[in-house]
Amino acid sequence: MPTTTSAPDDFFTAKIKRGDNIEPRDPMPEEYRRHLIRQISQHAHSEIIGMQPEGNWITRAPSLRAKMILLAKIQDEGGHGLYLYSAAETLGVGREEMIEQLQTGKARYSSVFNYPALTWADIGAIGWLVDGAAIVNQVMLQRTSYGPYARAMVRICKEESFHQRQGYEIMAKMAAGTPEQRDMAQDALNRWWAPALMMFGPPDAESLHSKKAFLWKIKRESNDALRQKFIDKTVQQAEVIGLKIPDPELRLNAETGHYETSPLNWEEFHRVIDGYGPCNRQRLEHHRRVHEEGAWVREAAAAYAGKFN
Ligand code: 3HC
Repeated sequence: MPTTTSAPDDFFTAKIKRGDNIEPRDPMPEEYRRHLIRQISQHAHSEIIGMQPEGNWITRAPSLRAKMILLAKIQDEGGHGLYLYSAAETLGVGREEMIEQLQTGKARYSSVFNYPALTWADIGAIGWLVDGAAIVNQVMLQRTSYGPYARAMVRICKEESFHQRQGYEIMAKMAAGTPEQRDMAQDALNRWWAPALMMFGPPDAESLHSKKAFLWKIKRESNDALRQKFIDKTVQQAEVIGLKIPDPELRLNAETGHYETSPLNWEEFHRVIDGYGPCNRQRLEHHRRVHEEGAWVREAAAAYAGKFN
């Protein structure tokens, strides 16, 4: 259990200033600890809930190869959740407490997972756009100040790049396929583009936590900077496979070298993160049900572990 300090602690501040990692046994401000528990546990929840939209397509994958790739990806996401719950536990919060916060709506998970995966092209769009956005954010988090979180990111980023590539491959194949397949790929891009951009969080000016996150080097780049990085990269990827970004105001600013886009619908964002998105209720109901059904696995594992302690 970390030792928390109320006053700014010289040891903690000096480590942050030097850019050293804060480790679980280091003294740390209680606010820093709580900020990390909030962010890491919500990151873990996102990984686990994110398995649902893709899981619905395992039995409907169009080939054995596609099914194997999707199974491997979903299994990776479960592992990412495990690393992140374990990183959060080093801060003194228990697994059951985090699960209870998720299931009662006290804790959030990424808004993007509250949208339905309607066609096989959605699996491509999720890999390409959602995992693509996650990588941009998570590469930055490899430099976050909390050691266990930064180290979890190194492993997760390696696997995310496979996730993004397999999604992009699905979209490229469909975009070059029959007119129906191409339309399906464009429809998926149309529906997943804005929710993927919202994964980076609200605009910097409205971000509640960014100021402290920068002070403590939890965040190294802002929500808007990371979103822009993702847009600049992804617009070119869409062009390569002949799909159109669903934004009539999209334009390249020759001076800055960045793409300019339409404003996002932040009302929709807040509606979704407050529980009123298309799939929020179904996602949590499913999580509660399978958590209950899986209780025997946890009991058996605990009993088995108890035998050897
Ligand atoms: N979905 C849900 N809630 C969001 C959100 C989103 N996309 N973006 C922001 N929020 C919430 C924040 O949690 C915060 O609410 P809270 O106080 O109740 O926690 C509020 O909106 C204000 O946002 P801030 O920008 O002030 O919050 P943060 O400083 O925490 O920044 C963040 C938000 C950029 C998402 C940051 O928390 C972060 O980097 N988290 C780690 C990365 C992460 O969680 N990614 C989720 C996707 S994981 C994934 O995609 C798996 C992949 O394998 C498919």
